[in-house]
Amino acid sequence: MSRAIVNPFRKPNPVTWDESIVSAFRAKDIRDLHRSLPAYAPTPLVKTTSSARISGSARLLIKDESHRFGLKAFKALGASYAVYKWFAQRQAVPSAERFYQEFKPSEKVTFCTATDGNHGRGVAWVAEKLGLRAVIFMPKGTVKARVENIRIHGADVHVVDGDYDAAVALCAEQAERNGWQIISDTSWPGYQQIPRWIQAGYVTMFEEIHEQCEGEIDIAFIPGGVGALAATAAWWYSQEAFSHVKLVSVEPISAACLLESIENRGEPRKASGELNSMMAGLNCGMPSQVAWPLIQDRFDLFMTIDDEAAEAAMRYYHRGLGGAPSIESGESGAATLGALLTLSEKEGMAEARRSVALDANSTVLLLNTEGATDPDGWERVVGEG
Ligand SMILES: Cc1ncc(COP(=O)(O)O)c(C=O)c1O
Repeated sequence: MSRAIVNPFRKPNPVTWDESIVSAFRAKDIRDLHRSLPAYAPTPLVKTTSSARISGSARLLIKDESHRFGLKAFKALGASYAVYKWFAQRQAVPSAERFYQEFKPSEKVTFCTATDGNHGRGVAWVAEKLGLRAVIFMPKGTVKARVENIRIHGADVHVVDGDYDAAVALCAEQAERNGWQIISDTSWPGYQQIPRWIQAGYVTMFEEIHEQCEGEIDIAFIPGGVGALAATAAWWYSQEAFSHVKLVSVEPISAACLLESIENRGEPRKASGELNSMMAGLNCGMPSQVAWPLIQDRFDLFMTIDDEAAEAAMRYYHRGLGGAPSIESGESGAATLGALLTLSEKEGMAEARRSVALDANSTVLLLNTEGATDPDGWERVVGEG
């Protein structure tokens, strides 16, 4: 059953953190680095005013990451920035705005990571650009299209006999044995710098949103896997101009590590579910260590949804929400709309709705974080119902 719990650990505004936790977000070279990628262009922010009937909110702003870099998901924003920072720390490199046009690595490093799909695709894409090798570990049951999306960039893909967390563990072990460099979006004790740079890379998305909507957001729904994207949202919306924005975390019922960590007195814990949601990008068992403090202090509400809610949202997007054009939204991308529908329509959600002041006057930001990364699955879902 879908759930919503109000965060008892939410710090009063303004939330501030130790500089060591947030300094990476303030870097001035993030957007410049992305501009050095020829495929970079801000993704659309779709605005619709006529969805009140279905959402209980006056206005929806949909950030459509299905257009990001031709990769159909936001994740490469993080991988591309972290790889640049990793090299910049070791040797002289071209400046951020020229990096991906000019840099030729002299070291033949191999990058590796675990992934549910999109982050690994981003790492493989970046490695290919630099003429480097990538080795990607994926959980059992990963659909073929997501493996192929990565192989197409020349990476070696290993589908492990276990879930996402098992892929993370095997990746770390193989990196140690083979001298590979891990570019992981999740973090653990002793592995924190690169995940912080990855989180910082996501700032570009929020900066674009700000430019596209003049900041008039009341509530933002953020999908949670390991929580790296949620950490960036927590930091961005803690800045003075945005500190009124309510933040809602959205996870699958079967991979609810963020919600369950809140319930566990705020101590990060492994999700109790099976990690078998169709929302593959959100099938993560443990919160990222460097993300968690930001999420815990700043999010207002934690929600879980079932796969049917995500499917219904994929269809809504496809058919055009209110007056909005059709939007391509994959399983994890549709989760935030699935959560908004659940929050506005389901019984037993009244307290949760009040906690974020969701009503007919709200302006709601939804992140559509991926398009049809599994085209067959997407076709099947949008063709139903
Ligand atoms: C499409 C999509 N949305 C959301 C997320 C969640 O991001 P994070 O793992 O940073 O919480 C992912 C993670 O891979 C994803 O692929």
